[in-house]
Amino acid sequence: MKLGFVGLGKMGYHMVERLLEKGHEVVVYNRSPEKVQKISEEKGAIPSTSYEDFVKKLDSPKIIWMMVPHKTVDEVKNQILPYLEKGDLLIDGGNSRYTETIRRANELKEKGINYFDVGVSGGLAAAKTGYCMMSGGEETDFKKIEPIIKDMCVPNGYGYFGTNGAGHYVKMIHNGIEYGMMQAIGEGFNVIKEGPFKEINMLKLSNVWNNGSIIQGKLIEWTKDGFEHHPGMEDVDGFVPHSGEGQWTVEDAEKYNVEIPIIKRSLEIRKESENKKTFATKIVSVLRDEFGGHGIKKKEE
Ligand SMILES: NC(=O)c1ccc[n+]([C@@H]2O[C@H](COP(=O)([O-])OP(=O)(O)OC[C@H]3O[C@@H](n4cnc5c(N)ncnc54)[C@H](OP(=O)(O)O)[C@@H]3O)[C@@H](O)[C@H]2O)c1
Repeated sequence: MKLGFVGLGKMGYHMVERLLEKGHEVVVYNRSPEKVQKISEEKGAIPSTSYEDFVKKLDSPKIIWMMVPHKTVDEVKNQILPYLEKGDLLIDGGNSRYTETIRRANELKEKGINYFDVGVSGGLAAAKTGYCMMSGGEETDFKKIEPIIKDMCVPNGYGYFGTNGAGHYVKMIHNGIEYGMMQAIGEGFNVIKEGPFKEINMLKLSNVWNNGSIIQGKLIEWTKDGFEHHPGMEDVDGFVPHSGEGQWTVEDAEKYNVEIPIIKRSLEIRKESENKKTFATKIVSVLRDEFGGHGIKKKEE
């Protein structure tokens, strides 16, 4: 298929690489032109120099995938919009709040342009192994773009969940769950650190836990990588930022009168970590960097 892709960041760049490897034609645009040049020269993407040039290089009805931070979606959308026509499809693959997605979809519907939301999971490692994607919008649009979604994902790692916002909604809940799971892992290792068996090697333990235990999984694997890259977590400050999804999960749960004490407390602990840093928050900070490349605050900063 031919599509346009805006946002060649940590996620977008490798998603485009996967699409190109699978034989799709991808017209790319990025705020910083170097990445456009790199992926075009090295991987065969079709470069563009402005939003106008970008949209002109697409066939109608156009399919455009945005992969930018949620705070910049309106800005990017509004710059593309003048060049779109009835029947075109604009996709937001970032972590946008689902209520904002519904608002944007309604705005675009009035202009005859379809909007589609895809929550992407898998982090940076998924560049090699494939992503997991959760989508929302018109089902006919899902069918239309299923070949590109399928080619970016692991087998069975994608699905359509309902009207606009549904994809971002389930991604928001996914990230809320992630908050709780990461905090639990951090806490467990913190108890071990302070407990009676001081000789326990955390790297060895995370490696053993990742081979056959009930808590085996990607997060434990990244914990092991974290202990490899930050022995004893000595260089890690322990501050854990929160980017929106956990907060929105808590707000939504409260709106619908659902108690979520673990996710809520995990969010509070991140907020408190500005002043109250523990071995657990150090592990959560390192985990975020291992899977998402979000960076960590170093101790000396
Ligand atoms: N990192 C993860 O693990 C992960 C996982 C799932 C979903 N997500 C979501 O995916 C989206 C992208 O994340 P990322 O990690 O790839 O972020 P990133 O590495 O910071 O890249 C952001 C991209 O957006 C572009 N951009 C930023 N502000 C812009 C603006 N005002 N106008 C135009 N372009 C702008 C950047 O262009 P420049 O190159 O010019 O800076 C870059 O291409 C976000 O919504 C994020 O929440 C991230």
